[in-house]
Amino acid sequence: MDMRLPLKFTEAVPLQDRFQRTLQELRVSVIDRCNFRCTYCMPADSLQGRGFFLPLENLLTDHEIEDMVRAFVDLGVRKLRITGGEPLLRPGLPALVEQLASIPGLNDIALTTNGVMLPRLAGDLADAGLNRITVSLDTLDPKVLEEMSGGRARLEQILDGIQAAEEAGFQQLKINTVVQKGVNDHTVMELVEYFRGTPHRLRLIEFMDVGNSNRWSRDDVVPNAHWVETIGRKWPIAPVGSRNPAETARRYKYLDGEGEIGFISSITQPFCGGCTRARVTADGIFYTCLFADKGTNLMPLLRHADDPGELSRKIASIWAKRNDRYSEQRDLPGHSREKVEMYRLGG
Ligand code: GTP
Ligand code: 5AD
Ligand code: SF4
Ligand code: SF4
Repeated sequence: MDMRLPLKFTEAVPLQDRFQRTLQELRVSVIDRCNFRCTYCMPADSLQGRGFFLPLENLLTDHEIEDMVRAFVDLGVRKLRITGGEPLLRPGLPALVEQLASIPGLNDIALTTNGVMLPRLAGDLADAGLNRITVSLDTLDPKVLEEMSGGRARLEQILDGIQAAEEAGFQQLKINTVVQKGVNDHTVMELVEYFRGTPHRLRLIEFMDVGNSNRWSRDDVVPNAHWVETIGRKWPIAPVGSRNPAETARRYKYLDGEGEIGFISSITQPFCGGCTRARVTADGIFYTCLFADKGTNLMPLLRHADDPGELSRKIASIWAKRNDRYSEQRDLPGHSREKVEMYRLGG
């Protein structure tokens, strides 16, 4: 063998953490700002009086994001999800997607959005090579929606966003619904019925204790087992065997052929065992868990590195030491009170 050609990590051995979880998926937040103030994510009163959002000049540039994603792909990542805040607020997002779509080895680029700006951008994103879109929609009740979004969301705008995505060729969307007891649980069945029979997949997400500002309490969580039973009574459902152990959602199909629904149950049925996800914030901090309090700043290695291999080595050494499994340990004492916020890390 010609020893002058360095092997890429993926061609050698897959990069595994301390629990043999392979690095497979990267979630990059491209901006921490949002046009909503969802009470479970970014409650408006928690932002007051503080210089809260990252100054735009602190964000990684498109070029730096591309270099970083290339490094992760060299280490084995095949799936990328673009998140925020609200990622469509980043100026020039379609151009960034186009750059990322050209990276050899990256098979899947997805985006999580609140949907409001899709009428303007869905076509450009499709042309740029975006593969999949997830839209967050917590209820079809305009009043409840307004409350949950801190007075910002209008139902018609989100439904228009969904329609724009369909028209741009994203035929199978995922719809994310965070369920909070006493807030939108009485509207869940209406949402289930609305998406039943469409190609889209609704996913009910248990309200999580992510970040420090959403006043999470276990009492506000509706265990997804409740919905499996309630939905199944009305429209019989059966689990769909998953091919992908890294999947966040437990998938069910309607037995009458009317599509699928998913349940993301981080509180009652944690899925850390298959967690192959790395996350990077818009300013380049690399985290190995959604509930982490500490990350590693990759920005200096992207902006000032003399040796381009240093970035890959850094990422690899952090992943190799990774032992996160917060959702399986949330009830143990001693967790930090300074978890990174969801809108920084992008969920
Ligand atoms: P694909 O499988 O690529 O379609 O995406 P996904 O379902 O992982 O992505 P999405 O952003 O839609 O995730 C759905 C929700 O699951 C997120 O909004 C989070 O609330 C939650 N979630 C995603 N990843 C994790 C994770 O690693 N840990 C926990 N606890 N929750 C997660
Ligand atoms: N619990 C569960 N899901 C959350 N999301 C944001 N905050 C929370 C939380 N506290 C979800 C949003 C969106 C994705 C980015 O994360 O609904 O779909
Ligand atoms: Fe914005 Fe999404 Fe957070 Fe709501 S959940 S405030 S839409 S980033
Ligand atoms: Fe992964 Fe952390 Fe979520 Fe567990 S809690 S699934 S380790 S991100």
